[in-house]
Amino acid sequence: MLNGLIHAHSGLRWLLLFALVYAIFNAFSKKKNGRFEAKDKMISLFAFILTHVQLLIGLLLYLLEKRWTGFSHMKDAYSRFFAVEHTLGMLIAIVLITLGYIQSKKATTDSKKFGKIGVYYLIALIIIIASIPWPFREALGAGWF
Ligand code: HEM
Repeated sequence: MLNGLIHAHSGLRWLLLFALVYAIFNAFSKKKNGRFEAKDKMISLFAFILTHVQLLIGLLLYLLEKRWTGFSHMKDAYSRFFAVEHTLGMLIAIVLITLGYIQSKKATTDSKKFGKIGVYYLIALIIIIASIPWPFREALGAGWF
């Protein structure tokens, strides 16, 4: 089961990255004079849901793999990355995506709705890209899929 979760968490990153890029591009390209329609809401909702699925799987992995090993292990880059850096970075990004989604719902004009999605999702995307254990990063041992 653990292996399945790791593969799901790893593979879903691509779907999430694609969904975020698409939502950001859609938001900025329509911000000036586009109308915020049901389709636009679905695009931002899809990225929002995928982020929360990642959060759930990530939390399960964190707990099942007992990633928190105490402050004495913080000198070890590998332990610290998954215990703190990856988790904290992703949590901040997920909060930003949630805020962006809620703020766009509350916004009073279509331009503001697109603007909230565009800006919040873009900052979250940058944090997510920086927090992913890419195969070329130190000895984190993670793969491409
Ligand atoms: C946007 C959200 C997230 C993305 C895109 C993401 C992406 C990834 C990726 C690509 C890996 C490497 C998997 C591999 O090939 O070994 C990974 C590992 C991991 N993630 Fe996340 N993650 C996210 C959120 C989270 C959160 C919120 C947590 C914890 C609460 C978490 C906990 C973990 C853990 C414990 C691992 C290590 C799994 C292992 O390889 O043993 N992730 N994550």
